[in-house]
Amino acid sequence: MPKEQCSIITIFGGSGDLARRKLYPSLYQLFRRGVLGEHFAVIGTARRPWTNEFYREIVAGSLENEPNTSADAVQRFASHFYYQSHDVTDADHYVTLKNLSNKLDEQYGAGGNRLFYMAMAPRFFGTIASHIRSEKLLSPSGYNRLIIEKPFGRDFASAKELNDSIGAAFNEDQIYRIDHYLGKEMVQGLLALRFTNPLLTPIWNKDYISDVQITLSENVGVEERAGYYETAGALRDMVQNHIMQLIAYVAMRQPDTFTPEAVHAAKNELFANLPVLTPEQAKRDWVRGQYVAAGDQPAYREEDGVASDSQIETYVAGRIMLSDSRWAGVPFYVRTGKRMPRKATEISINFKPLEHNIFDAVGCNEARSNRLTVFVEPEQGYTLTLNGKTMGSEYALRQDPLSFRYPQDKIDEAPEAYERLIQDALMGDQTNFTRWQEQDATWKYVDVVRQAWDDDAPLATYAAGSHGPAEADQLLERDGFKWAEEFD
Ligand code: BG6
Repeated sequence: MPKEQCSIITIFGGSGDLARRKLYPSLYQLFRRGVLGEHFAVIGTARRPWTNEFYREIVAGSLENEPNTSADAVQRFASHFYYQSHDVTDADHYVTLKNLSNKLDEQYGAGGNRLFYMAMAPRFFGTIASHIRSEKLLSPSGYNRLIIEKPFGRDFASAKELNDSIGAAFNEDQIYRIDHYLGKEMVQGLLALRFTNPLLTPIWNKDYISDVQITLSENVGVEERAGYYETAGALRDMVQNHIMQLIAYVAMRQPDTFTPEAVHAAKNELFANLPVLTPEQAKRDWVRGQYVAAGDQPAYREEDGVASDSQIETYVAGRIMLSDSRWAGVPFYVRTGKRMPRKATEISINFKPLEHNIFDAVGCNEARSNRLTVFVEPEQGYTLTLNGKTMGSEYALRQDPLSFRYPQDKIDEAPEAYERLIQDALMGDQTNFTRWQEQDATWKYVDVVRQAWDDDAPLATYAAGSHGPAEADQLLERDGFKWAEEFD
């Protein structure tokens, strides 16, 4: 059983969607597992004037679909929740919050620890942070930590402004920036695969790997988030954060040891090798697309809240050439899109073909390159394809997949990404959070692509439910490659 964590957790945006969908269920599971025991309290804040009783009903209601609940446990859990109506711009309200935090700290024995969670629109982050500081909500004993969510800005300049505003109250080592992909089992598992297998570690470089492909496809459309998505698009929504973080885990050098400092040092080195693209390179190596109606699926432009002439991309594919000597000449192809055929997060490492196949001479030329595919979601596991011999007296080759998948019951039992990340924040482990330096580097890279598109670049289209625009296939064909699933 992990050591019990003590904290007063203040959630700004306690009545919101994120809190209900992700935070309360995650906190409940941490409570159930004993990570949160008796020495914690949660203060939910939002504008509406709710009572503690009503708030606790909301919290309990958010757990309806959670596994392993019992009425008694839910009631004990909810009893730790307190509601405080709060206007983020009103300094007096922070004084009330501070007094409540101190009172609950005494009541629950929280040891002076404070965890602040900004689960609301980023435009409020700066105001909240500066009031936390000016009204002295930071605890003089124990820790003070801040969890924030993406979007961290919409380009480098706005991300920096946001970061500076948070910096008014919190140091970098107190800030936990969530990228929920880093909380996923197989993303964390990728590091184990890479760094514990002598079979893989020495060949994880340009000498043996021909290309890397990362796919984050979704079958859903823009859902109810058109307001946000219309200002973001797939490049900002998925590439700057999730895809870049996956690239880091695939390509960073081996950290000296598995500590947050060492992992972030390796990531920083990697991101420093993101090339500075010219607008021409950006246009050549990045494709954007938008889905059009197909069958009973509407076009993006017909979705609720979307402009009828929207230029926002719902699909992105790109080729990244790292300027790191370990990866010289190895393209990293990435793609993500809404309304693709299925939900799939997959990373394929394609190894180089044999230079000389002794079986060629006897007419056996079916040897293929090896490929390791990491299935992040919904399937979780990996497959390594090897060449083998077909059974029988003739000599012919075939590809054999060596596959491992976690069984569904294990996947169902495993902690969800938010649960892991909140636990890490409570434990003070920053390994699986993103640092400002990473935001800085990835925004600067992505901004060039965005700018090139805004200046002048075609918006390709693809049929809803399809694999994406033909231009994305051409991106690989140009280099003699194909998207992995195309030849499975
Ligand atoms: C979010 C994006 O960060 O990630 C969404 O804002 C996207 O647009 C989601 O749907 C995908 O996350 P997951 O965990 O379902 O792959």
